[in-house]
Amino acid sequence: MKHRVKQVLNGERPVVTSPASDLPPEFLKRLEHIVAPDDQNLIKSFMAQPRPMSIRLTDATLNIDEVSDALRDVGYEPSKIPWMPEALLLTPADRSLVREVDYYQRGSIFIQSLSSMAAVEAMQIQPGHDVLDCCAAPGGKTSLMRYRQKGKGILVANDLSRRRLQKLKSVLEQHRITRVDLQAQAAETLGGSHANCFDRVLLDAPCSGEGRFHVSNPSSWADWETGKIRRLCKLQQRLLRSALQTLRPGGVLIYATCTLAPEENEVVLAKVMANPPVQVELERVELDCPGLRAAHGSWDGQDFPDWMSLACRIVPEQGMTPFFMARIRRI
Ligand SMILES: C[S@@+](CC[C@H](N)C(=O)[O-])C[C@H]1O[C@@H](n2cnc3c(N)ncnc32)[C@H](O)[C@@H]1O
Repeated sequence: MKHRVKQVLNGERPVVTSPASDLPPEFLKRLEHIVAPDDQNLIKSFMAQPRPMSIRLTDATLNIDEVSDALRDVGYEPSKIPWMPEALLLTPADRSLVREVDYYQRGSIFIQSLSSMAAVEAMQIQPGHDVLDCCAAPGGKTSLMRYRQKGKGILVANDLSRRRLQKLKSVLEQHRITRVDLQAQAAETLGGSHANCFDRVLLDAPCSGEGRFHVSNPSSWADWETGKIRRLCKLQQRLLRSALQTLRPGGVLIYATCTLAPEENEVVLAKVMANPPVQVELERVELDCPGLRAAHGSWDGQDFPDWMSLACRIVPEQGMTPFFMARIRRI
C-alpha cells in the first residue's frame, strides 16, 4: 500500500498521510451505511489528520491555569474543556513537546482522549461509590475513576491480560493512586464472583477499534474483518450479561466501545436488553460534550426499540474521538 509523505502541522516532524481511500474498501463501504454523509466526511477526515491531543490533571491540588502556562512555555496553545474542568485540548497535537513539561515528568498530567474521559464522566461517580472497571488496562479510565471517588469506596480494576495489567499498575503508580484491587479474571466470570457488589461499573469492551483507524498506521486495521466483528459481538454480549450481574439494585453500568460497527454497539444492547440476567433499564447518557449523536434506530433491516436513542455515539468534533456509550441502570 502506497502512502504519500506530507508535511503536516505536527511539530517539526513530517507525518505519513494518505487518502482515506487507503482504508479497507469493505470498511469504507460499511461506513456509508453506518453514518450519515456529513458524519462520514468527519470520520474520514479524522482518520487522515493528526490525532487531537488532550491532557488531564491527575493531581487535584493543581491549578489548571498554571498548568496551561507551563504548556504554553513549551509551544502549545491549550484550550479549556467546558464539560471537563481537569482537561486541556492542545495544539499542535505533538506528543513529544509535553515530555519537557515538569508536570508531565512527575505524572501530574496525563495524555488521555476526551472521549475516554467522557466515558468515565457518564458514570457519575460519587465519593464512596463502590466501582468496578471490567476491562481496565492500560488504566487511563481507572485512574480517573479513583480521582472521582476522592479515595472513598472500593475500586476493582480487572483485565484478562496480565501483561496489560502490569501497564495499568505503572499508570496508577505514576498517578500516585493506591488501594485499587487488581484482578486478572475473564470478565465473563465477574457476574458470578462479584454479584450485586457495585454502584458503578464500566464495561469498556474489547472491540474492533474502528474509531482508532488511521491512514498513517495500517497496523490499526491490519486484522479487521467482518468475521472478527461477529465474534466480538458474541463476546461483548457475554461480557455485558456478566457485568450487569455485578451491579447492586440502583447501580449504573456504562457500556462503551471505540468502534463504529453497529454489531458491537446497538446490536449487543438490543440482544442483551431483550433477555437481561437482572432487571434493568436504559437511561440517557447525560454528557455536555460535543459530537454527541443518538444511537442508531436500525441496522441491516432490523429496527431497534425506541429506547435505543438514549444510547449515544460520539463523532469526531472539537477534539472528541469516535465512541459509543450506553447507560444501563439495575432496577
Ligand atoms: C478497550 S480495552 C480497555 C481500555 C481501558 N478501559 C482503558 O481505558 O485504558 C479492552 C481491554 O479488554 C481486555 N480483555 C479482552 N478480553 C477480555 C475478557 N474476556 N475479560 C477481561 N478483559 C478482557 C483487553 O486485555 C483490553 O485491555
